[in-house]
Amino acid sequence: MSANTMDTCTNLIRNAKKIVVLTGAGISTESGIKDFRSKTGIYSLAPEYILSLDYFYQHPKEFYQFAIENLYHPEAVPNKGHEILAKWEQEGKVATIITQNIDGLHQRAGSKNVIEFHGTMKTATCLNCGKNYSTDEMLSRMETMEDFYICNNCIANNKVEQYIKPDVVLFGDTGTWFSMAGIQTILRYMQEADFVLVLGTSLLVTPFSTFPQYRRQGVPLIIINKGETPYDFGQDTYVIHESIGKTMEEIDNQLHP
Ligand code: APR
Repeated sequence: MSANTMDTCTNLIRNAKKIVVLTGAGISTESGIKDFRSKTGIYSLAPEYILSLDYFYQHPKEFYQFAIENLYHPEAVPNKGHEILAKWEQEGKVATIITQNIDGLHQRAGSKNVIEFHGTMKTATCLNCGKNYSTDEMLSRMETMEDFYICNNCIANNKVEQYIKPDVVLFGDTGTWFSMAGIQTILRYMQEADFVLVLGTSLLVTPFSTFPQYRRQGVPLIIINKGETPYDFGQDTYVIHESIGKTMEEIDNQLHP
């Protein structure tokens, strides 16, 4: 990374009032959580298909075992990247964080305005009656019940068997997981952004990966990501292929000498 890229990014952040931050699994790897598509990512263990709605319906037990093992990290703690974003929100720089992550680490770091675009692994919901379960409750059901994934509320009301699904967005999950009002809110944030900061995502999964296109003409895009993304060579784009924690700390130190 060239020194002037770093200087440009630091100056943009210094003067910013409305940064929209787009984050992915790469910001949580420094908290010990695997990302998906890196060499050591989750998809090196199993195909993307395992995180699809079809697979969930066909193999609910295997789905839950995989999801609890690879997507549920109650022990993980926020790292420097999460903490600095929370600080920049308190300093009036960050307007919102739109995250693909389901680990809740932005909120645990103190960020208030966080949109969890791919849901959360903290809770699960019956697809029929809407009864909500905590993932900890699902964990204890997995230890004590054969059909732990079937909602007892529905059985009690003699409803057909209905599955309790973690509140995360799966591939093929074209349900109303994200309301039109929610999408409008995101597009408004993008239109009002004075620049867009992308942290730790390959920007390969739509519709999230389309969001940078909705910033106003001339609004800069900063990407801090070890791997390449489809946006790396776009206009008004500054790319830093380095670790997020180290880079964010360097920038923050420049802002507060
Ligand atoms: N610093 C900087 N970049 C990092 C770091 C780090 N410490 N660790 C990983 N990265 C980068 C990787 O190089 C990779 O390009 O983060 C990116 C993570 O990309 P993915 O693994 O594809 O994760 P993400 O973009 O969040 O995936 C999007 O895909 O499977 C679905 O729903 C799932 O939300 C997920 C979506």
